[in-house]
Amino acid sequence: MGRVAYVNGAFVPHANATVHIEDRGYQFADAVYEVWALFDGKLADAEGHFARLERSLSELSIPMPMSRAALTLVLKAAVRRNRVREGLVYLQVSRGVATRDHAFPTKPVRPAVVITVKGFDRAASEAKAARGVGVVTTPENRWGRCDIKTVGLLPNALAKQKAREAGAAEAWFVDDLGFVTEGASSNAWIVDANGSLRTRDTNANILRGITRDTLLDVIRDAGLTVNERPFTPDEAVAAKEAFITGAGTLVQPVIAVDGRVVGDGAPGPVAMRLRSLYIERAKALAI
Ligand code: PDD
Repeated sequence: MGRVAYVNGAFVPHANATVHIEDRGYQFADAVYEVWALFDGKLADAEGHFARLERSLSELSIPMPMSRAALTLVLKAAVRRNRVREGLVYLQVSRGVATRDHAFPTKPVRPAVVITVKGFDRAASEAKAARGVGVVTTPENRWGRCDIKTVGLLPNALAKQKAREAGAAEAWFVDDLGFVTEGASSNAWIVDANGSLRTRDTNANILRGITRDTLLDVIRDAGLTVNERPFTPDEAVAAKEAFITGAGTLVQPVIAVDGRVVGDGAPGPVAMRLRSLYIERAKALAI
């Protein structure tokens, strides 16, 4: 059997998986999503992603489409049916389908649920981590609720394209005060001159990354110092190391910012150590 997707209660061939043209996710980005890394067929860091999904839905007054237990079963069935062991699971929940009107449907509609599973070459991802990646900076231009994981990702998509055209892997948004907020699909970190870790606090307008949260625990357990405060691109260039975190990249060393070399231009020991510690922890938290 080839690739399959879950769409509103049914598993269908991926190539034929469709949603209605008046799905509010399609018309208004009125939808939220989650991405889990898969390790050995299990949903990594599972709990954190479920908790954030529930929060994102609640912030938009979209009901959970089913219980967390039922959703877990469906996600795991999707993984099994796609025969993927290493990869990513994508879940999207929109408010549902209704005749176009900006305000919410007056008659309640059922949230629309879509799940896709994508295989991933773990060895290639390890090789990329060992090489390190470049990032470019771009002015912060997103709305004020980046704490909600919505599919309203046009600024992120444009920023990522800018990175790709510059031969970089990620774009870092920079706010009006000159501080990095986060990446287009990751959180941003440095290891400063004193060897302390630094990442932006979540009072800022950023997504509270689950990888970020778990890594904070890992860092504290390893006895390392971490400060949740912002840094500028210049500080990243002057830092010993820089890296990004996310379900797609895990912990990915950054070796250049706008073409300026970070540290000695190679992935640093702290980032590489945290990558393996994170993977160990995410596997322990996988279901
Ligand atoms: N992106 N910041 C943004 C804007 C993100 O889109 C993501 C994740 C993160 C990291 O969050 P987490 O550690 O929970 O994955 C931070 C996912 C992977 C995506 O859009 O594909």
